[in-house]
Amino acid sequence: MTATPAPAVPPTVVAGTAHLFGLVEGDDASRALLQEAWDAGVRRFDTAPSYGGGRTEAELGAFLAGREGVQVVATKVGLAPALGTRGGGRQLVRVARAVLPEAVTRRLRKASQERSRGRFDPAAVQESLAESLRRLGGRIDRYLLHEVQPAEVTPELVAVLRRAVQAGDVGAVGVATQVELTAAAVERGEGVLTVAQYAAGPLDPPVHLPPTVTTRVGHGLLGAGGGALRQLGDRLREDPAAAQRWRAAVAGTGYDAEDGLARALLARRPEGVDEVVLATSRPGRLAGAVAAVAAGPAPQAVQDALAALATPRA
Ligand SMILES: NC(=O)c1ccc[n+]([C@@H]2O[C@H](COP(=O)([O-])OP(=O)(O)OC[C@H]3O[C@@H](n4cnc5c(N)ncnc54)[C@H](OP(=O)(O)O)[C@@H]3O)[C@@H](O)[C@H]2O)c1
Repeated sequence: MTATPAPAVPPTVVAGTAHLFGLVEGDDASRALLQEAWDAGVRRFDTAPSYGGGRTEAELGAFLAGREGVQVVATKVGLAPALGTRGGGRQLVRVARAVLPEAVTRRLRKASQERSRGRFDPAAVQESLAESLRRLGGRIDRYLLHEVQPAEVTPELVAVLRRAVQAGDVGAVGVATQVELTAAAVERGEGVLTVAQYAAGPLDPPVHLPPTVTTRVGHGLLGAGGGALRQLGDRLREDPAAAQRWRAAVAGTGYDAEDGLARALLARRPEGVDEVVLATSRPGRLAGAVAAVAAGPAPQAVQDALAALATPRA
């Protein structure tokens, strides 16, 4: 990770919903987390037909119905709900998790996700778009190709997306795929793909996008599932020299509290990113994360220490 000059304006927060109505136990708990985001001032929401076994879009649509001031509703196409995120499948997965080793359930989940991918033929996209519009009450500001491979961005697909924008069915279209594939996918989009959403954590590579991309959205500021936060935390525990440098850098900055590492990561302002997607399943946590994004960037010494922590040991 390299320390780059931080943009003066903090990125706008988008509420992520991948964990809602599925991974979070209980629909009321998911609805309460949406309400927390709203109460924290978040007016942008990111969802997908694959989230919550297909239910999250409809729940988000119901949550936002009649609310004033919604700024962005982003959803996606191309990824169907994975096995075990839908209805009775969830129960099955719970049982499998209880009896099978974690490595096996992880492999099964990955295989199921692989089978759910790549639904980008024009007819399937049109059908998915009509369903998403229905579930989201007719409003889609951003329509993103979910986990798309560059080769899947065909002229036929681009034509469908261009028509959807021209018809006013969606505000803008773009990609939400793996960080390494993002630029190549956008480049095949004939200038139509103006939104790019990608992982922008401390361990992710920088992304260089053509100027036709006007909106860059970063997720995974703490790493997917908080993985980068855990990895850097482990480094602090296992590498005394790194821990000492970190402590010296954060002393007296406000980032020396117990949650200082998480807050410093949330304050990072990845280069070029206009918006950041945040998600938590823990009640009461989101407002602090939103405040950490707004408070950034951390003092330069903290940013440098973070960059050093994210650099693999020689
Ligand atoms: N291809 C795509 O389009 C794509 C891919 C990935 C994500 N997304 C979007 O981005 C959203 C967020 O995904 P993500 O990858 O950034 O995150 P994520 O996978 O949802 O993981 C966030 C992790 O950070 C932890 N966390 C959150 N706030 C924290 C805090 N203040 N302190 C410590 N830990 C904290 C959470 O734990 P707790 O739950 O315990 O708080 C969770 O483990 C998704 O919901 C989805 O909307 C899109």
